[in-house]
Amino acid sequence: MPVKQVTVKAPATSANLGPGFDVFGIALEQPNDQVMLSTIREGVEMQVSGMGAKTISLIPEKNTAGRVAEAMIKDFKLKTGLQIHVEKGIFPGKGLGSSAASAAAVAVGINTMFELGLSNKQLIVYAAKGEVASAGSEHADNVSAAVCGNFVLIRSYHPLEIINLECPKDMELAVAMPKIITPPNKTEKARAVVPKLVPLEKHVFNLSRAVAMAAGFAMGDVDIIGKSMVDDIVEPARASLVPGYTQVRENALNAGALGVTISGAGPSMIAIINRRTGDASKVAAAMREGFQSSGYDADAFATKPGKGSYVIGR
Ligand code: HSE
Repeated sequence: MPVKQVTVKAPATSANLGPGFDVFGIALEQPNDQVMLSTIREGVEMQVSGMGAKTISLIPEKNTAGRVAEAMIKDFKLKTGLQIHVEKGIFPGKGLGSSAASAAAVAVGINTMFELGLSNKQLIVYAAKGEVASAGSEHADNVSAAVCGNFVLIRSYHPLEIINLECPKDMELAVAMPKIITPPNKTEKARAVVPKLVPLEKHVFNLSRAVAMAAGFAMGDVDIIGKSMVDDIVEPARASLVPGYTQVRENALNAGALGVTISGAGPSMIAIINRRTGDASKVAAAMREGFQSSGYDADAFATKPGKGSYVIGR
């Protein structure tokens, strides 16, 4: 049988966006993972190169991309094996949906390679299976954004229902990633500190910001989106896991960000900027300084909302 090949580009994503824990996600224009799938006789073989590659397991069941491939081969009774080469552009363990990008890329790649005709929702269900390998739970906020692009909100997990909205043209983002070593089970640890019970006033605070943010996306109003990016429930519990959190937050707001929050389970921080009134590169630099003044070096960059995973070669 001739070897089939597909290469997919998948975006970094930021989950939660403040009040939308496990519900909101956004795709970023930069950075990206590139995943090449090639048919082999049987089994799943993993190769990983690029950013943080040494920290990623090559055992398919322990690898987010490998798990997706195994599940799809089994469910669709594909008479093939797959070699998966992941070129990581998204640093793992930083809260930027690194594992979700690889998982989404594999789901999109297999769908294309075998002409399965799956909907985005079906692709998300498969990609979310990969999240168990890295986060210990099938949360779908990162993978939804990595599949669909732009802004997604999960209207329901059971059954899975996603709403996918465009982002305003004036919306820019600044991201700062502290150069700290995070444990492999970082997300599980960050989820363990999330309170199980929430006082009603905190629930009301978060609910009002979350619905305002969703309305902001529907209205195309970056100012409403940005100033709604606050969280009184999960973020206070996780702040101590992000070194320099207070300083980074203060610096971002002082440099013109509309809002700033922990990206996913951290430790990166993300800010929203209206490009008519602010400068995302300036905000990114101020956030890097925030980490540095707290004793931690960091990478920082400006980016924009981005599109979902797509095939770049066959
Ligand atoms: N919503 C998830 C969390 C994202 O915050 O734990 C982790 O990737």
